[in-house]
Parts: sequence; structure tokens; C-alpha cells
Amino acid sequence: MGKTLTYKILEQHLKSGNMVPGEEISIGIDYTLTQDSTGTMAYLQFEAMGVDRVKTKKSVAYIDHNTLQSGSENADDHKYIGTVAKKHGIYFSRPGNGICHQVNLERFGVPGATLLGSDSHTPTGGGIGMIAIGAGGLDVAVAMGGGAYYLNMPKVVNVELTGQLRPGVAAKDIILEVLRRMTVKGGVGKVIEYSGEALKTLTVPDRATITNMGAELGATTSIFPSDEITRAFLKAQDREEDYTELKADADAVYDEKITIDLSALEPLAACPHMPDNVKTLDEIGPIKVDQVCIGSCTNSSYTDMMKAAAILKGKQVAENVSLVIAPGSKQVFNMLAENGALSDMIAAGARILECACGPCIGMGQSPATNAVSLRTNNRNFFGRSGTKSADIYLVSPEVAAVSAITGVLTSPLTLPAEKLEELKIEMPSHFMINDNMVVPPAENSADVEVVRGPNIQPFPINVELPEEVKGEALLKMEDNITTDHIMPSTAKLLPYRSNIPYLSDYCLSPVDETFPARAKAAGGGFLVAGQNYGQGSSREHAALVPLYLGIKGVIAKSFARIHMANLINSGILPLVFVNEADYDAVAQGDQLAIRDAREKVMGDGEFVVENVTRGTSFPVRLEVSGRLKDILLAGGLLNYTKKQNA
Ligand code: F3S
Repeated sequence: MGKTLTYKILEQHLKSGNMVPGEEISIGIDYTLTQDSTGTMAYLQFEAMGVDRVKTKKSVAYIDHNTLQSGSENADDHKYIGTVAKKHGIYFSRPGNGICHQVNLERFGVPGATLLGSDSHTPTGGGIGMIAIGAGGLDVAVAMGGGAYYLNMPKVVNVELTGQLRPGVAAKDIILEVLRRMTVKGGVGKVIEYSGEALKTLTVPDRATITNMGAELGATTSIFPSDEITRAFLKAQDREEDYTELKADADAVYDEKITIDLSALEPLAACPHMPDNVKTLDEIGPIKVDQVCIGSCTNSSYTDMMKAAAILKGKQVAENVSLVIAPGSKQVFNMLAENGALSDMIAAGARILECACGPCIGMGQSPATNAVSLRTNNRNFFGRSGTKSADIYLVSPEVAAVSAITGVLTSPLTLPAEKLEELKIEMPSHFMINDNMVVPPAENSADVEVVRGPNIQPFPINVELPEEVKGEALLKMEDNITTDHIMPSTAKLLPYRSNIPYLSDYCLSPVDETFPARAKAAGGGFLVAGQNYGQGSSREHAALVPLYLGIKGVIAKSFARIHMANLINSGILPLVFVNEADYDAVAQGDQLAIRDAREKVMGDGEFVVENVTRGTSFPVRLEVSGRLKDILLAGGLLNYTKKQNA
């Protein structure tokens, strides 16, 4: 039976497990990337592991998220990341060098390799034939330390692309069509593998737009084969030696299959407030537009920018529109400056931003109240732009640029035929290569002193699980507590992501403002919660900050999966009430105890918690595998990895 491309790469990197969909496997990681928002914590965690030099083939630290410096915090973080990278064998992409995924594609991505990144859009690397997976900072720290990455063996979905896009219809429309068909939940536990005759018409940046937004399907990752187009791209980046041909076997068997005829596609938009709320522009109609943002890791490549510039050339941005453009990398920016396209954009009235995430993450350019904003980004979640009343539509660069001129949502297919011809942008045979904003690591670690501004505070590390776990039920909560409740991520708190002691004063404050002070006074204890505790983002801080406050266990009716994993990684016991009615038998302030905790954790998964205050006890379940039990015994993933590496 033939193998899928995904299977082949995973098999080559397999460290443990059976490659049967749904079963846990572990793989070796060749490359890692971090961005600054998650990177500070990842490097504090890496330092805590006590590993001198990274053990990956190459690891890169990017600064692209929090590049605004309206206080010293972000600049301090940049300095810390720069120095810690230099000391431990990591390449440092300085602020201004570009968005991690765009730069990775240009300068670091290698077909057939594995990439683990502390950013959910790491699958962008699948555009160049990598198995590129987004993960938490701690997973990336462990990978940098030489540890394996654990995941459930994914199913593989084949998306066959036939036909050819018409000029004015873009790669963005392909992934919007996939999202329309599969929805934001359709990719969970799956890798999306692309194939078909249309591949020869899609450039590496086109493919990367598609794999980037595969993250919105909830997919583990997405991947394209590595072919002559990949080779030409690498050659144009002076990296032809990194090329390997990669493809699925002709008789590969897939778990699911979708076919998309590109010739039949038309320009699409994801309407507020979900990336899968996809409609044709005709269905939406000519709505008035207030803002247009072209950029982000989805659509900021050279060809994306050149298409926008071709549309804007000789035209004027509509009076009612604010058009902002952020090229994805220094390479792209520099080439636009050199060939005059930047001048065309400026002349048309575009506001040029630095090459960084910017508006995508709400760092500047929040739209006006009730505004309509067209963006080439990948996410349009409610409030993400910084303006809750704004409506964000996700579109291609072509739709964005045409609409910026007309002032209303407009299809590029309305452009005259000669203009459409100009949108057939040739890939350059040679990109402008200048890596002077990438600082290589030091030869000798001892020569480098890590600079820690006041915002860089030590990372909390748990201790081995004691024989007896006891403490007060410090807070009793309702159903559906989100990670935003546990650790709010307001703009005010964002600069303090490397300062857990500071953040601890806000932990669970949306539920009870007095909680942080009570937890500190008690020296820690338990949390009690209802259904679906920890739903929302994968934010590790929602486990790390409770760890800092001394939380030893959370007893809930049920947990959100990713938060549960983060609790385990921090060595906090995630315990589920066997009988939901027992939730009512615990009151805030009760003293709880688990005796012979180590033995119980290693047991069959069910044991009792004593309610010392009431003289009662109730059964709980620990729903984890053998390896995760070992992590809990060790007091978290860092301690566990240290032990494994010893
Ligand atoms: Fe940055 Fe937005 Fe991509 S925050 S990494 S441009 S999803």
C-alpha cells in the first residue's frame, strides 16, 4: 500500500509509538522557531532545563509580534531573547527582519524536515514541504533541548487541486474554499496534504498561504509536495542545496479526499467573525469599506505585494479608506523599494508599516467604531482587531487592493483585461539576499552574558509530586471558565508575558479579585471548577501563573483538552469528579488532601480526595497515559525532560 507524504516524513522522524491514526507517537524535531510573544517564556523554560546549546539542526528566534516600544518592556524582552539566543546556539532574527513564517520560508525552510514553532501558524512551512507544527513554548523548549515532540498520529486528508486560477482569483481563495467546505473544526487530528495537476501553477508563497491558513481548520498541519517549483524557489534564495524531491506514492491511501477545480473558483471573503464564514463577493455585495490592511504571515510575500502594487499603480486610495501595507520581510520590503513598487503604493496613498505582525495582532491600526475592515490576515475573531464593533473580512491581496481604490468591496474580476494580465507576476529568478538582520549564535557560550531587564523574571518550576498533596479549596468556579478568566491577556498585561510574578496579581481576577491575595496568603492549594475548565486559547500562562501561586491541583467536572495538557506540563494535577454531584459537596475554603499521592497517580486512574474540613471524601479520575503520569510525578515536563536527558 502506497504511503502519503505525511506518513513518509513522520516515519523518518519517528521516535516512539505506532503510526495508527489517533495513537500517540513521538517524533524528532529538526528545526524550531519562536516569536517574541511566546519566545521569552520558551527561552526561560529552555534555560531552566540547564542545556548549554540547542540540539536541533537550527533554531531561530524571531521578533515580530510586539515590536511597538511605548515602554521599556518589549525592548527588554527583545534584548533578553537576542542575548539568550546568542548564548545557546540560536539564530536571532532582529526586529525589522520580518514575520517569522515569511522569513522561515525564505531563509530557513527545508523540504522533508520537521519544524516545531511556538506559533499556531507554523504550518506555513508546509508550503515548502516541511512537516511544520505549531505548539506551546514549553514543547519548543523541550525540542531545543533534544527532546521528542509527542502528538497523536493524524489522519491524512488529500485535497486534490485541478484546473488553474483565473487572474484575480488567488491562493487565498483556495484556502477560503477549503475552509468553507471543511469548517474551522474539520481539520482536527488531521494533516491536509495537497496534490494534483494544478500544483505546477502554484508558487511556494501561494502554497504557504494555503498551509498557513490550514491552522484555521484546526489541522495538525498542512503540506505540499516538494517539486521543481520548490527547487526554483530555493535556487532563487541561493539555497538549492536544501532541495529534495518529495511526493506521496501514486497509490497512497488517504483517510478523506476533496477535489477543488481552481478554474471554477471566484474571489471569496471570510465574513465576520469566523474564518469559515466564507461567501462569494457577489453574495456579500458592494459594502462600504473603511480600512484595508495588506500583510500578515498569510499574504505578505513578494508576489502578494507586487500584485497589490500593480493594482494601485497610478490610482488613488478612496477618501473613505485607510490603506495600510506591511511587507512580510526585509527581503520583500527591500525588493519593493528597489523595483519601484513601494513608490507606486506610497503614491496611491498607502500607509506603509514595518514588516511585522502589526494590525493582525491588534498592535496598532485598530479600526474605527463600527468600521468595515478588509484584511489579508488569517483570523477575524470578534474583537481581535482591537475594536469590538468592527467587522473584519478576510480577503486576498487582489480584493483588498481593488477595494481600497473603489472604497467598496470589489471583485478583481471587474478590472480591465490588461490589468488582470499585469497580475500574472513572475517569481524572481533571484531574490535579494541580505541576512544582516539575522545574528548568528556565538561560538563560545561563555562569552555571552544574558541581559535580563526588570521585566524578565524567573520561570516557576514545580517540585516532584509529594506523598501528600493538601491545601485549601481556594476558589470554586462555575462552568466554562476560559483561559482569559484564568490569565487575562489584555493589552495592558501583554508586555508582562515574561514576568509571572507581576501577572500573578491578575490571575482569575475576572472571577474573584481577591483570589491572588488569598492564594498567596495560603501558600497555594486547590481550584474547584465546573464543566469545560480552561477552554479558549492554548496559553501556557493559564497554567504557569497558578503554578506560581502554589496551585497543586484543579478538580473539575471536565477540562478543555489543551489546558489540561498545560496543567500536566506544569505538574498540576487535573482531576475530574467521578460523580458530578460531588461538586456540591466541596465549598470554597474547605481543606482537601490526597494521601499517598504518588502511588495513586500511578494507579488505575481513580482515587479519593479527602475533604478534611467536612470529614468526607469523594472519588476523582486522572485521565492520563503512562508518560503523562511520569510527568506529573516528576513535577512537570521540564523536570521530566531533565531527568530523561541526564
Ligand atoms: Fe503574526 Fe498574525 Fe501571523 S500575529 S504570526 S501575522 S497570525
